[in-house]
Amino acid sequence: MATESSRRARLYIDGHDDAIELPVLKPSLGNDVIDIGALTTKGYFTYDPGFVSTASCDSNITYIDGDAGVLLHRGYRIEQLAEHSDFLELCYLLLHGSLPSVAQRNAFVAAVAADREVPAGVREMLRHFSPGAHPMGIMTALAGALAAEYHDGLDIANEQHRMATAQRVIAQMPSLAALTYRHGKGKPHVPPRDDLGYAENFLYTTFATDENYDINPVIAKAMDRIFMLHADHEQNASTSTVRLAGSTGTNPYSAIAAGIAALWGPSHGGANEAVLNMLREIGSPENIDKYVAKAKDRDDPFRIMGFGHRVYKSYDPRATVMQQTCHEVLDELGVDDDPTLQMAKRLEQIALEDEFFVQRRLYPNVDFYSGITLKAVGIPTEMFTVIFTTGRTPGWIAHWREMVSEPYKIGRPRQLYRGEKAREYMPIEQRS
Ligand code: CMC
Repeated sequence: MATESSRRARLYIDGHDDAIELPVLKPSLGNDVIDIGALTTKGYFTYDPGFVSTASCDSNITYIDGDAGVLLHRGYRIEQLAEHSDFLELCYLLLHGSLPSVAQRNAFVAAVAADREVPAGVREMLRHFSPGAHPMGIMTALAGALAAEYHDGLDIANEQHRMATAQRVIAQMPSLAALTYRHGKGKPHVPPRDDLGYAENFLYTTFATDENYDINPVIAKAMDRIFMLHADHEQNASTSTVRLAGSTGTNPYSAIAAGIAALWGPSHGGANEAVLNMLREIGSPENIDKYVAKAKDRDDPFRIMGFGHRVYKSYDPRATVMQQTCHEVLDELGVDDDPTLQMAKRLEQIALEDEFFVQRRLYPNVDFYSGITLKAVGIPTEMFTVIFTTGRTPGWIAHWREMVSEPYKIGRPRQLYRGEKAREYMPIEQRS
């Protein structure tokens, strides 16, 4: 938690005799934070569209140093976690703050496995979507349906209820994802198997036609990594959405539904889908230069999807791990000569060398490589953000739990109002 340092920021405003003194908070890592809470009593708000300079909360879960390309979960580097750990262990770490012992890990894995089955009413609801309905719209709705199913008796002031909810959403999200995929394909529900791990069960319940479905260990490891690399990213748009929604005291499944809706956008989780759509639009390697020129043209809204990041102004450490996994999967499946994947590699190379991208420090982000990997695995493009949703769920619920476990305020930003001043109502017959 941030502590107040002895330092003070002094804000001098024209027309005021005295400076406004503001406490400076000391984090364990990262930028010092000026506590501006008292400004409203002096008649001022702060203005920060896009929250580029705003710490919206204090948190102990995840730290990012965007300039150095560092991502830590509870102090552990993502590269180390990706190499030595797995998704469920990372979920435990995000929720509990420390890595589990063998007994703690076994108990957590068993608790998640016991809660995987989605309520029958939610499965029934799925049948009413058209086969072509977008999976992210379905996921948003089904998460909302979980709120309805699990509302009665849920006390968010009770830590046991909070932890049970956290385990349940982590357990059920891949089940919802698999159900959503199978609905689009017109296939019936396949229940998970007790002998399979988390990512294996995701592949099994998504793709299996019968119990003998063969799980390729390279693909299962790649799926687990994709979930891990997306697990949490501090106060990104969807997590901030979950916190803001959760700050009203709403049902946590509803807050997660709001997070899923926020994740869908192409500037956030929708980027992995947008990468493949962009590659499809580019069409063939000879068009790449034209599209790179469009991305550099200030009058053209086109951007290279999967490039750039609000926080990382250096290489995204998740992209380094994902690039390695991507190549492992392409080698394993022998699809290295796939034209779309070759185009992606060419685009990556051009953009990494082009001065426009170098100067702006625009590197490929995790979604660039996860999109390519998921395509190679055979996941349809419109399911990509659903995979991100499954991965990000522990982050969302860990942040929600962190917030509601301490005294918290409803999130209620203010604004810089630029509209009309008060004016008299005019009857319609007098208006020109
Ligand atoms: N292609 C071309 N130019 C770009 C791109 C891009 N992908 N991203 C940023 N720029 C340019 C932008 O036009 C601006 O140029 P100038 O200085 O000449 O005006 C400069 O780089 C800075 O961009 P910005 O819009 O101020 O940066 P931002 O921090 O507001 O936006 C971003 C970050 C991720 C929304 C943006 O880089 C983007 O749209 N990228 C493509 C979409 C994408 O891959 N999103 C996934 C992000 S990672 C997943 C996640 O964590 O959710």
